Amino acid sequence: MPAPNDPARSTAEEPMLDLRVATSPVWLEVALENFDELLVDHAACERKAFSTGMSLVSSYPTLTGLVSAMIDFSREELDHFRIVHGILVRRGLTLAPHAKDPYARELVSRIRRGEAETLCDRLLVSGIIEARSCERLLLLAGALPAREPELAPVYLELARAESRHHGLFLRLARTLCGERMAVERARELLDFEAELVQRLPVRAAVH
Ligand SMILES: [Fe+2]
Ligand SMILES: [Fe+2]
Repeated sequence: MPAPNDPARSTAEEPMLDLRVATSPVWLEVALENFDELLVDHAACERKAFSTGMSLVSSYPTLTGLVSAMIDFSREELDHFRIVHGILVRRGLTLAPHAKDPYARELVSRIRRGEAETLCDRLLVSGIIEARSCERLLLLAGALPAREPELAPVYLELARAESRHHGLFLRLARTLCGERMAVERARELLDFEAELVQRLPVRAAVH
């Protein structure tokens, strides 16, 4: 996920985090029927992604490769936030007060203690969230031409970025935590994510 022929698929050199289950078609129906609500949540997701990059910089200031990657990542996520906030403004919408995202909260709760384990898990959880975001933004990009044609190319570009980001986080986990730990833990977290995504109620939200 995404499928091999999807335009949002990473380039061959980027490792892929393969999600275990596809999003239910019900999610797309709910997202399109409540598209303004979805947009407000999406803006919050982009803001949180920016913060995640800066939080990793703050936690690991001496890991120069990670810091450089997160500066670029956060700049890109801030730009996504600017783009989605601009869409809100044009539709007469505003950001909503901070609301907890049960999907992200449950994934974050799986982050283990221990120096290497925490770094590995933080990177992998971020990568999985990017992977699921990529899958869902791509679903929206495919459905929007019939409803919101001017937004379809925007969502395709955003999905492509999330595809690159999930490859980035997996590559960082492999480099900084070791191939074995990264791959084994990715398997466990992806199993958990599959169970989680099927258990949580469907919402007009990215996750
Ligand atoms: Fe983004
Ligand atoms: Fe992203």
